[in-house]
Amino acid sequence: MVNYKDLGLVNSREMFKKAMEGKYAIPAFNFNNMEQMQAIVAACVETKSPVILQVSSGARKYANQTILRYMAQGAVEYAKELGCNIPICLHLDHGDTYELCVSCIEMGFSSVMIDGSALPYDENVALTKKVVDYAHQYDVTVEGELGVLAGIEDDVVAAANVYTSPDLVEDFVKKTGVDSLAISIGTSHGANKFKPEQCTRNADGILVPPPLRFDILEEIERRIPGFPIVLHGSSSVPQDKVAIINKYGGALKDAVGIPEEQLRRAATSAVCKINIDSDGRLAMTAAVREVFATKPAEFDPRKYLGPAREALKELYKHKTVHVLGSANRVE
Ligand code: G3H
Ligand code: 13P
Ligand code: ZN
Repeated sequence: MVNYKDLGLVNSREMFKKAMEGKYAIPAFNFNNMEQMQAIVAACVETKSPVILQVSSGARKYANQTILRYMAQGAVEYAKELGCNIPICLHLDHGDTYELCVSCIEMGFSSVMIDGSALPYDENVALTKKVVDYAHQYDVTVEGELGVLAGIEDDVVAAANVYTSPDLVEDFVKKTGVDSLAISIGTSHGANKFKPEQCTRNADGILVPPPLRFDILEEIERRIPGFPIVLHGSSSVPQDKVAIINKYGGALKDAVGIPEEQLRRAATSAVCKINIDSDGRLAMTAAVREVFATKPAEFDPRKYLGPAREALKELYKHKTVHVLGSANRVE
């Protein structure tokens, strides 16, 4: 059993308390490799932002769970070396079984998500409570989820959003003892969050998505005042990155995300954690494609992964400063 505290990691409790008081949200960025981890840490150190490093079960399969855990430990040391001991939480993203959550906790994760959102309500409550009972013995925080996001939640594919019912949140939080709750108010995973027919088009022909359901968020806040809320599927799908990808041979059609102003508004509410993965994928892919297209003789991976890492860092800095409001929150 590895205790996350010995690795210099923190759980999400204090982070969320400060985010709630300060009216901002903690960035939760996914990582699968060294360049992503370095970009996240460098961006958050440079902007003095706390950060949640997220590992999905897909990331565990891709990179190996032991390697990822050592990378998170390395992230703590890397931040110190860069000059700012920012709080870093290592979080399991979309944990789908009790066993996976236990395994991550034993490996040194400081926070886990148990995603029972596709289960019948009572089963979601029972599974989430079981994870909470185990995790809290080690002071590991737990995120639960109510409501289903359209798109892909790891292996679960949902055709449409099932918005979180405000009528259930108080009961869920009370019965499970979770530390935070992911809700569905219109976000979804991936780079094609809405079908074109769900959107309008602006004068430049760019898709404008339907607004998030702030009415549902406000009702949830009324039912569980001061309780930390999480938004998944919160990439904004920057159109400049999409254009670079398509210019250099990509085929991203009708890619559309959540407008940044709406995320900024959400961050000032009880939303304390905002999950962003796809935007990083777009930034990296755009940078790599550009190198491949403009320097076709290049074959040193550092010559394309380096620019990709730099583009990723700039994207994350933009997020902490201009979207989440988490910049300059660390002494
Ligand atoms: O919510 C999903 C995250 O973007 C992780 O994606 O399961 O492909 O690693 P992944
Ligand atoms: P995006 O696909 O919008 O980046 O969402 C990521 C996410 O929710 C990870 O859990
Ligand atoms: Zn998610």
